[in-house]
Amino acid sequence: MPIRIYVDGGLFDEKTAVIPVFDRGFLYGDSVYEVTRTVGGKPVDLEPHLSRLERSAEAIMLPIMPRPVIMNALAETLSAAGNPDSYIRVIVTRGAGELGLDPDLADKPRLIIVVKPLKLPPGDLYRDGASIAIVGVRRNLRRAVDPAVKSGNYLNNIMAFAEAKRAGAYESIMCNAEGLVVEGSTSNIFAVKDRVIRTPALEDGLLDGITRRRVLQIACDAGYALEQVHMRPDDLRLADELFLTSSVRGVMPVVRVDGMPVKDARPGTVTRELMALYDQFLARVAVGTL
Ligand SMILES: Cc1ncc(COP(=O)(O)O)c(C=O)c1O
Repeated sequence: MPIRIYVDGGLFDEKTAVIPVFDRGFLYGDSVYEVTRTVGGKPVDLEPHLSRLERSAEAIMLPIMPRPVIMNALAETLSAAGNPDSYIRVIVTRGAGELGLDPDLADKPRLIIVVKPLKLPPGDLYRDGASIAIVGVRRNLRRAVDPAVKSGNYLNNIMAFAEAKRAGAYESIMCNAEGLVVEGSTSNIFAVKDRVIRTPALEDGLLDGITRRRVLQIACDAGYALEQVHMRPDDLRLADELFLTSSVRGVMPVVRVDGMPVKDARPGTVTRELMALYDQFLARVAVGTL
């Protein structure tokens, strides 16, 4: 059973898994979620993902269930799916209730876990590099729903992605209201210049990506100079190398910005070293030494 979906204590496939139409996750995106993968059957960075899920829930005043409930449900779902490796999505909605915005109308939080066979992005994106477009759609303000909250309301990012797709790019890069580069629709962005690795500072309004953090740690251990900065669109256009990070992508090189080549339009040496180091990290997770 490669696709298994946990809803309200039961396990289903994608045809039989259902949630009530009055669930606020469906109605309003009134939910929080996390995505990760397994390697060697073990969830990658589960602890930081669950911590972020709890922080997201707290930020939107959603009274999330205790962590062991989620961990047990995840173990049950993974085991029922029985995939060599899986994609994992953990969703907690505020629950169902009478129509209306008042959060107190919700009955109780609903846990949904989707486990599917892991499908990584096509290999040519890693070999040849991806393209990004710096889009007009702005990342929402930290004083609106803070982009640090991984909520089920992704319309902002959907619009950004659609704009990039229309421009023929693989991923969109959004700026904040001040015009500073913040992040992709489902990824964090890094720029390398003279072997210094830079990424937008969290204070500029972006998701504190788990892979971003992991890559910063790996790069620090490898002796690289790292900076979290106010990043401008020109910092991307004039970089020596660019790459994206996310839990399912890992580290992915970027070779074009708005159709223009980054340097020689080949994945750079720093990026390739970080890709290899991230693979080594995954290999350690797989054998249980991390
Ligand atoms: C908006 C956004 N930024 C960054 C990321 C990357 O975060 P992570 O490394 O935790 O997967 C994601 C992942 O989906 C995302 O949706």
